[in-house]
Amino acid sequence: MNKHEWNLHADEFEEAICDVTADEVNNQLSRFVRGARLPQNAVLVDLGCGLGSFVQKFGRRFREVIAVDFAAQIIARAKDRCMAQPGITWLVADIASAFKAIGTRADLTVCMNVITSPSPAKRNALWRCLAKVTKPRGYALVVVPSLESNRMVEQRYLRKNHRLVSKDNGLVRREDSWQKHFERAELESVLAHHGFKVKQLSRVAYSWSSEGLRRSRLDRTQPWDWICLAQRV
Ligand SMILES: C[S@@+](CC[C@H](N)C(=O)[O-])C[C@H]1O[C@@H](n2cnc3c(N)ncnc32)[C@H](O)[C@@H]1O
Repeated sequence: MNKHEWNLHADEFEEAICDVTADEVNNQLSRFVRGARLPQNAVLVDLGCGLGSFVQKFGRRFREVIAVDFAAQIIARAKDRCMAQPGITWLVADIASAFKAIGTRADLTVCMNVITSPSPAKRNALWRCLAKVTKPRGYALVVVPSLESNRMVEQRYLRKNHRLVSKDNGLVRREDSWQKHFERAELESVLAHHGFKVKQLSRVAYSWSSEGLRRSRLDRTQPWDWICLAQRV
C-alpha cells in the first residue's frame, strides 16, 4: 500500500491492521527487547511506527525516541495516543529517505510488519535504511509475516473451501493488496546480507480470530509472524 492508502486506514487502524504490540498473544516483544543489551542513554528509532503502540509500551526506557511513518494521519493519531510521553520526535517520512533526517543513531531500531512490499527494490531500500540508522553493535528488532504460518492458515482455509491466495515467491494476497511473506531462512539471509547477526529468532503469535477463523482441536499452533533481534556487526 502507498501512503495515501495507509492514510485511508488511519481511523480504523485498530480494526483493520495488525498492531504487533497490541495483538500478540505470547508476550514476545518484552522478551526480545530484554534480549538487547542497551546502554543507559539508549536511542530508539521505530520505522513504520503506526499508532505508536511500541513507543507507548517501551519508549520510556529510552533517552530519545524517533518514530517514523509516511502516513501523516496515522502519525497524528500516534501523537495523540502518546501525548503524555515527552521527548518523542515524530517524523512524517518515507523510511527509504529517512536516513538523511535521522543519521546513524539508533541503539535499537524497530521495524514491525513494514517491509512487506511486493517490490524487491522497495523492500531493499527499507532494509538498507534499517541498517544505516542502526549504530554498529546496535540492534534491530524486526517482525515480518511468516510464509510457513501462511501455509498453515491456507490449509485451514482449504478445509473451509476458501480459495488459495498466494503465489510461489512469498507474495500473499491480504485484503486488497499483495504482501511479501518470509520463510525463516530467508529472513536470516536478508539480515546477514544487510550486515546483521541474528541473536534471537522466534514466533510472535496471534489468535486464530485474527485470521477470521476459530481455533479447532486439530490446530497444534497459532498463526505467527517471525520476530527477530539482530545485532549490526
Ligand atoms: C502494518 S502497519 C505496522 C505498524 C506498527 N509497526 C505495528 O507493529 O503496529 C505498517 C505501518 O508502516 C507504515 N509504512 C509502510 N511503508 C512505509 C514506508 N515506506 N515509509 C514509512 N512508513 C511506512 C504504514 O503507514 C503503517 O503505519
